[in-house]
Amino acid sequence: MNSFPKLSAAEVAKNIKNGQTVAFSGFTPAGAAKVVPKAIAERAKELHAKGEEFRIGVMSGASTGRSLDGALAQAEAVLFRTPYQSDPDLRKSINEGKTAFFDMHLSMMPQAVRYGFLGPVHWAVIEACDVTDAGEITLTSSVGASPTFCHKADKIVIELNRFHPESLRGFHDNYEPEDPPFRNPIPIFRPSDRIGTPTVHVDPKKIFAMVESNGPDEAGTFGELTPTTRKIGENVANFLSGELKRGLIPKGFLPIQSGVGDTANGVLNAMGQHPDIPCFDMYTEVIQDAVINLIKQRKCRFASGCSLSVTAPLLREIYADLESFRSKLLLRPQEITNSPELVRRLGIISINTAIEVDIAGNVNSTHVLGRRIMNGIGGSADFARNAFMSIFTCPSTAKDGKISTIVPLVCHLDQSEHSVIAVITEQGVADLRGKSPVARAKTIIENCAHPDYRQILHDYVALSGGTHSPQTLRAAFGMHLAFEKHADMRHVNWGEFN
Ligand code: COA
Repeated sequence: MNSFPKLSAAEVAKNIKNGQTVAFSGFTPAGAAKVVPKAIAERAKELHAKGEEFRIGVMSGASTGRSLDGALAQAEAVLFRTPYQSDPDLRKSINEGKTAFFDMHLSMMPQAVRYGFLGPVHWAVIEACDVTDAGEITLTSSVGASPTFCHKADKIVIELNRFHPESLRGFHDNYEPEDPPFRNPIPIFRPSDRIGTPTVHVDPKKIFAMVESNGPDEAGTFGELTPTTRKIGENVANFLSGELKRGLIPKGFLPIQSGVGDTANGVLNAMGQHPDIPCFDMYTEVIQDAVINLIKQRKCRFASGCSLSVTAPLLREIYADLESFRSKLLLRPQEITNSPELVRRLGIISINTAIEVDIAGNVNSTHVLGRRIMNGIGGSADFARNAFMSIFTCPSTAKDGKISTIVPLVCHLDQSEHSVIAVITEQGVADLRGKSPVARAKTIIENCAHPDYRQILHDYVALSGGTHSPQTLRAAFGMHLAFEKHADMRHVNWGEFN
């Protein structure tokens, strides 16, 4: 037991002032603060009803749950948001220009906070399963940026969530890198290496209050595997097993990083089922349901991540059998899971999902039609730019075939062609290694584009009339414009651009 003041969430909310920045724990809904943000949203609504201004700056590790991003967005209480989000209400508010959002590489977010680049952090609201009078905080199902938030914030509020067992102590490896100049290397050489502490240690005088709660993480569910996500997964697994046979991946395999979402789920499932892929380690960002299944199938030896972002029934199952996972799971801060230094050193195979890919291999993972944000760049570039092998996957079409995800030129750039070695859709694999721009375009169109779009894309390449990079600026967004005009990219007419 500890002797910090116990307050209700509503009492805490009353102390937070208009314009202040609040850093919340959470990386996905896992480990996200739940009751205080909801109370802040209620307070915002009350103040707005009286005609008073009330909005706060919101930081977290990555996305959060409905009680945080959803509630605050619905209450129009978000002044700015960083570094990532995936909430439908918040996304709407951002895309309507009502909330300022800045999309950041997740590895860089904690150091940006430490450097003071994002201004003062007035409050840290941190979900914990235990806190001692000495200021030892045991986090819950994610670490994210919480160690940095705790160290940087003026005041800390602990959400002591009884849903998460105190025996989670030992599942976290909290470590903050030094600041420049002359930083030392981060001494991780294997995915299972521990370098930090099981708890976050703060000055207990900074702990303003403790709010008790008891509720599960608000993780969503995954869609069933579809023939498309299944086929993408099989194509990735076959590609990797081929690389293993050719001796391009070491016999013992390399650690895997896998992105978020339904496509990533399909990929991990297929890797689990592939007979030629040996048991591997994961050094990843989000440990989602499929990773736990791989551990159960003994296909994954060890998973290091910064968030145990699994569906509620699976989290209950893990908590009921926590000891059997103790030697197989480890949660670290996002600047360690996503550290470019470590991604390069460990030789990670990174597999992330794109919204669209162009004929050069440039990737857009964040924006629809150049204007509307989906989620954010997340950790995809942290991994892709530094990986041993960086793969991007996506279905070849979206919106019932009316959108081709293979386009002449991406309408927003997240990963450049120089960070991508293979593009994989349900149609096949485009291996881009050692290929010129013209050869890249050919292989992407032939192997990854949907048959409905192959000739359209070849016709686009022909417009360039033969050059190093087969682009034609006046027509490069022709397919996007055709979708805006006709709600179907197949209606593009290259003749209009001659
Ligand atoms: N144009 C318009 N909409 C598109 C599209 C395109 N080119 N490609 C996909 N979409 C839409 C889909 O139709 C779907 O919409 P819906 O929700 O209305 O059905 C939505 O985007 C999600 O697509 P889906 O195919 O279900 O993909 P997913 O669940 O695998 O998620 C990303 C894909 C890109 C959104 C997701 O992986 C992401 O946010 N990535 C960026 C962050 C990241 O990579 N993090 C991991 C790093 S560790």
